[in-house]
Amino acid sequence: MTTFTPDEARRLRGSLTAARPQLPRIAAKAVDMVLEDLDAAIERDPAATGRLQMALVSPGLHAVWVHRLANWLWRHDRQLTARLLSQWARARTGVEIHPGATIGRRFFIDHGMGVVIGETTEIGDDCMLYNGVNLGGRTLNRGKRHPTLRNNVTVGCGARVLGDIELGDGAQVGANSVVVKAVPAGAVATGIPATNRVPEPGEDPIEALYRHPAIFI
Ligand SMILES: CC(C)(COP(=O)(O)OP(=O)(O)OC[C@H]1O[C@@H](n2cnc3c(N)ncnc32)[C@H](O)[C@@H]1OP(=O)(O)O)[C@@H](O)C(=O)NCCC(=O)NCCS
Repeated sequence: MTTFTPDEARRLRGSLTAARPQLPRIAAKAVDMVLEDLDAAIERDPAATGRLQMALVSPGLHAVWVHRLANWLWRHDRQLTARLLSQWARARTGVEIHPGATIGRRFFIDHGMGVVIGETTEIGDDCMLYNGVNLGGRTLNRGKRHPTLRNNVTVGCGARVLGDIELGDGAQVGANSVVVKAVPAGAVATGIPATNRVPEPGEDPIEALYRHPAIFI
């Protein structure tokens, strides 16, 4: 259980009192975010049958929702509470997201279990990970050491993306690949270590995907 010193409790009470006039706006924003997360998940999970089912059974969504709260606490100087919350979510869902990680909108983790997202990871909008993905570091130095995923990036199950490298818009990583170098926008990275295949100009992206069945589960 988290215990607060009197000074911490006073500060927390102060922040909550200051936030009170904004509560309806914050609640409306939270509901909008939950609904768009649900719709994005349904769009990407062929097994999903509806919002209620996804809200109840998707560990990936649960982990992301807890992360949004943990990240708020992290940014508002409540690091210990944020870490405890993130570890609680890890025990419940099998997804470990460091509360310092920056995650954009409509992020979905399918199946959940075994995902690790490091502290300095940055993830843009509309990204998706499958189970067993590690967005990890390759150095023990502090500072930016985890990957940056731009928008619309997909990482297949079991893949490791290691170090302060960038995966450009629309990049895709094949299942079980180990990515240690940047992936350009629109490219497909597969293998150990991963090599990038950039689609030819004018190439149908769906056709290009079919040549990489490791992307699909
Ligand atoms: C294997 C490892 C120790 C090598 O580190 P390094 O000595 O700094 O390696 P370099 O950057 O000099 O890379 C050497 C070569 O190995 C390749 N390489 C690096 N890591 C690799 C890996 N995990 N698998 C396959 N190849 C790898 C690089 O592409 C490079 O190939 P090249 O010479 O053809 O360009 C490191 O990349 C690694 O995987 N560390 C583990 C990190 C981890 O588990 N993090 C989890 C945090 S939660």
